[in-house]
Amino acid sequence: MSKIIKLPGLIDIHVHLRDPGQTYKEDFYSGTCAALAGGVTTVFDMPNNIEPIFSYKKLTEKMTIAGQKAVCDFGLYFGTDGKNTDEFSKVQKLVTGLKIYLNLTTGKYLVDDEKLVEKVFQTWPKDKVIIVHAEGDKIDLAIDLCRKYKNKLHITHVVTRNDLEKIMDAKLLKLSITCDVTPHHLFLTEKDLPYLDGFGEVKPSLASQSDADFLWDNLKFIDCIATDHAPHTLAEKKSFDPPSGMPGLETMLPLLLTAVSKNRISLEDIVRLTNINPQRIFGFKQEENTYVEVDTEEKYMIKGEELETKCGWSPYKGWKVKGKVKNVFIRGTKVFSEEKVLVTPGFGKNIPQ
Ligand code: NCD
Ligand code: ZN
Repeated sequence: MSKIIKLPGLIDIHVHLRDPGQTYKEDFYSGTCAALAGGVTTVFDMPNNIEPIFSYKKLTEKMTIAGQKAVCDFGLYFGTDGKNTDEFSKVQKLVTGLKIYLNLTTGKYLVDDEKLVEKVFQTWPKDKVIIVHAEGDKIDLAIDLCRKYKNKLHITHVVTRNDLEKIMDAKLLKLSITCDVTPHHLFLTEKDLPYLDGFGEVKPSLASQSDADFLWDNLKFIDCIATDHAPHTLAEKKSFDPPSGMPGLETMLPLLLTAVSKNRISLEDIVRLTNINPQRIFGFKQEENTYVEVDTEEKYMIKGEELETKCGWSPYKGWKVKGKVKNVFIRGTKVFSEEKVLVTPGFGKNIPQ
C-alpha cells in the first residue's frame, strides 16, 4: 500500500555544512544533497566555520562557495565574538540573521563577557533575527536584553522543561521571542547514550525522558523544528574525545512522519514548525512550486553509510521509520527522485533577504 501526499518544502533554520574549512566533514554540495534527500528545500547555515564568519569578507567568500555548490536554496547567518559590531551594517542585508553563542560549544565562539553581549543586542538591527545558543541563566540574559533593546530573538535547540518554561513565560510579555527544538532532543534521551557512546555527544546534551515528554506535550509553544545538522567523521566520533554534533537532515522528516503515524504530532504541526513559522520569523517567502512528495505508508530502516551526508553515519541507524521522501521539487524543477539528486551544483539560490 502506498499513500503519496504533498508537503511544502521543509526549511531548516539550523545546519552546519562546514564549508569552507572542514569539507572533509561536509560541504555545500554533500550537505544540500542530504537536505534534498530529507525533503528540506532551504537550509540556513551557521557561521562557526573553522575560520568563523565574523567579517564581511569571510561572509562574501562563503556566499560565493555556497552559490557554486548548493543544490537546495540557502541562507547564511553572520557570527559574532562581540568585537565585530562595526561589520553589522555591511552584512545585515546579506544574511538571515546573527548567531551568538552564550554557552560553550564546538569551536571557540563563546561570548562570555556580558558587556559584549549587550553591545551585540544593542547594535544588531531590530528587524533582523538574533539567534542564540542559550541554556539556563543565559536564557534569562538573552530575554532581559531582548526586553531592553526590542530585538527579534530566537532561542535555538531548547531542550529542558526549565528552559522551555522560561520562554513560555517570556512569550506572555509580548516580546518578539521564538524558539526551536531539534529532532534529537525529541527522539533521543540520555537513556540512549550507553549504545550511542560518542555518537550521542551533542550540545546541548541529550536530556531526560521527562524533558523530552515536556517538549512533545508543549509543541504549541514551540515555533520551529530545526535539525542542528552537525556532521563529524566516524573516526572523530569513535575517538577518545568525540566532538559534539550529529547529522539530522535526512532523518528529520521520516522521524516526524513516523510520529504522525503514532498520533504524537499532526501533519499540520509539521508544516507549521518546518515551513510556515520559519518564513514568518525570518520574513521571507518560499518560492512557488517548492514541495515534497512523501509516501506516508512506506516503511524502511535508517542506515548510516548510504546517506548523502559525507559523515556516513546516523544516531538512528537501525531505526524503522514509516514515511519516505519520494520526490522533491524546487521552483517547479524536480530536484530529487528515486533516491537521486537530479540537479547540478549551483542550482540552489541564496534566499532574498
Ligand atoms: C555544533 C557543531 O558541531 O558545529 N555542535 C553541536 O553539538 N550542536 C555546534 C552547535 O550548534 O552548537
Ligand atoms: Zn548548531
